[in-house]
Amino acid sequence: MNQAGKDRVSDTAQKLIAAAVAVRKNAAAHHSGFSVGAAIEDSEGKIWTGCNVESNSYGLSCCAERVALFKAISEGVRDFERIAIVAGGPNLASPCGACRQVLHDYAPGLDVILHNPGNGATETHTLKSLIPNAFADSDLKTEERS
Ligand code: THU
Repeated sequence: MNQAGKDRVSDTAQKLIAAAVAVRKNAAAHHSGFSVGAAIEDSEGKIWTGCNVESNSYGLSCCAERVALFKAISEGVRDFERIAIVAGGPNLASPCGACRQVLHDYAPGLDVILHNPGNGATETHTLKSLIPNAFADSDLKTEERS
């Protein structure tokens, strides 16, 4: 990739991180106190955002990543390029196992950008590296259904 290409990727990542930082302010994280923002970019460059939404019945809470993805899916979007996930804490929070699976279901080729505004740390991973050998569409092709 040439220098211009590199700059473009970096600008896009910054824009996505900024969107995740902004939506994180809406997190309904009154139980855990752990606010997360996510922003997923579709193949047309549109950004879909989400924050974590917690329930009094804790297990019904939904992570920021899935809120962002489901908003896009429910509007008919099916192709995605990258997601930015922003959280605080001492580390660089990485998506939970459930979110890795659901993101892989819809966007196996996704790039995953992690950012912590507290210490400024940023890392980029491929989703494939975060969920190797994932349960996938092809695994559902049973003899009964083929
Ligand atoms: N959470 C997310 O939204 N995304 C992650 O990647 C990790 C965890 C949320 C779920 C819950 O509301 C809170 O953070 C603490 O687990």
